[in-house]
Amino acid sequence: MKPQFILAIDQGTTSSRAVIFDHRLSKIATAQQEFTQHFPRDGWVEHCPLDIWQSTLSTCKAALSQAQLTGKDIAAIGITNQRETTVLWHRNTGKPLHNAIVWQDRRTHDQCKALKAQGHEAKVQSKTGLVLDPYFSATKLQWLLDTIPNARALAEKGELAFGTIDSWLLWNLTAGQVHKTDATNASRTLLFNIHNQTWDKELLELFNIPSSLLPDVANSADNFGHTDAALFGAKIPLRAMIGDQQAALVGQQCFAVGDAKCTYGTGAFLMINTGAQAVQSQHRLLTTIAYRLNDNTTYAIEGSIFIAGAVIQWLRDGLAFFSQAQESQDLARALDTLSPISFVPAFTGLGAPYWNPDARGAMFGLTRDTGIKEITAAALQSVALQTFDLIQAIENDGITLHRLQVDGGMTQNTWLMQLIADIIDKDVHVPQQGELTVFGAAWLASLPDTRDPKSSDEASQVVKGYAMVYHPEMKPSPRDRLLKDWKKAIQATQVFSQ
Ligand code: G3P
Repeated sequence: MKPQFILAIDQGTTSSRAVIFDHRLSKIATAQQEFTQHFPRDGWVEHCPLDIWQSTLSTCKAALSQAQLTGKDIAAIGITNQRETTVLWHRNTGKPLHNAIVWQDRRTHDQCKALKAQGHEAKVQSKTGLVLDPYFSATKLQWLLDTIPNARALAEKGELAFGTIDSWLLWNLTAGQVHKTDATNASRTLLFNIHNQTWDKELLELFNIPSSLLPDVANSADNFGHTDAALFGAKIPLRAMIGDQQAALVGQQCFAVGDAKCTYGTGAFLMINTGAQAVQSQHRLLTTIAYRLNDNTTYAIEGSIFIAGAVIQWLRDGLAFFSQAQESQDLARALDTLSPISFVPAFTGLGAPYWNPDARGAMFGLTRDTGIKEITAAALQSVALQTFDLIQAIENDGITLHRLQVDGGMTQNTWLMQLIADIIDKDVHVPQQGELTVFGAAWLASLPDTRDPKSSDEASQVVKGYAMVYHPEMKPSPRDRLLKDWKKAIQATQVFSQ
């Protein structure tokens, strides 16, 4: 019998997941594994690339065994991944030269500052759609080449390979046979020209990156080779690779111009489809590739918030306020009013629209009776308020959002979802199918070569029918007070960081 299942990998910032879908794209098995986060210094965040690979491999095997399938039953694999995180490895041995430098890492802040001071940002932005911030891969890669003894010389000789997590997984899945990335991941490196779809020579010079390091750039649904037979007992076709936020956009079926989604994971990422036009924001949002299919590029505007779910993780693991993230909504609800605390969770600087890598977290308005409830509610409020900042920047760019489709783990927090609707003053739609990132990757992997995403019946059936729609209910006065306090808190945080 023809293999008919799809295996989708979602390699995220804190865990690796593998999900198996049947031919109707219904989920039949899921395995997930967390891995260690390394924080070697203030502002540094690293992952061990071997942890990333091993956790991915073992979750794939666990999902197969849970579904009582073997590699022979899998028609195709799709990969979606945390973006920007940078790995450098030896082509002959496949061994990484260093830990992966994670997207949240701020170590190259001075480098970005210097490039900005030299007046390079406008050019970089016009070619890549991005801003000069340590978030993206180029300065991370430059740091690796300049810091690891002999790395630059080996790179010049063509002995090293660079990749974001998609490329690193692909390399391992194909036992070193394929070194490719897709256009969405390439568009997060600061090295890729999103208009002509090539690695940009001028940018490679600016960041001093040898071109021999770079993977080939493919469509998001493409031929990425086959898995090494030794891994799953079959050579499974690798058919899709796409950055996780773009996968969620696809999973949410946001294929029309103006369709928007926000995914609440470690961070929160709001994306709006702008079609074939790469719209440049005047309000510090990013222009990025939403997906590239059959060599046709679709663009998006993106607002990136670095800390969303991570603030609740910090309250749980760092401060031991509660043992399960879900308890945060009970604590917030028990307060019976909004928290008077303004909490700016700038643990790794501020992303859009502020782009301030120096900023660090702050709380304002603490009193003797401030307790766990007030701080937890304030942490959740910060997620809604950061979403508001993005929506305001988008609307200042002249784009009107009629509603917001949301997904990700935090959408289970009904208190937060209602608050987001109240603060942004728009309906918030939570789809029935919660795991749209991995679903987006599975759907792309299932595509025949020429299919147009707009004609996707199965996918819209999976997403269609919202589990919940939250309508704005808050009166103007508490909303205005919250927004006013937030603005002041953001300003004070930025002043403190100077
Ligand atoms: O740009 C970073 C983003 O891709 C990370 O996503 O879901 O791992 O927080 P997530």
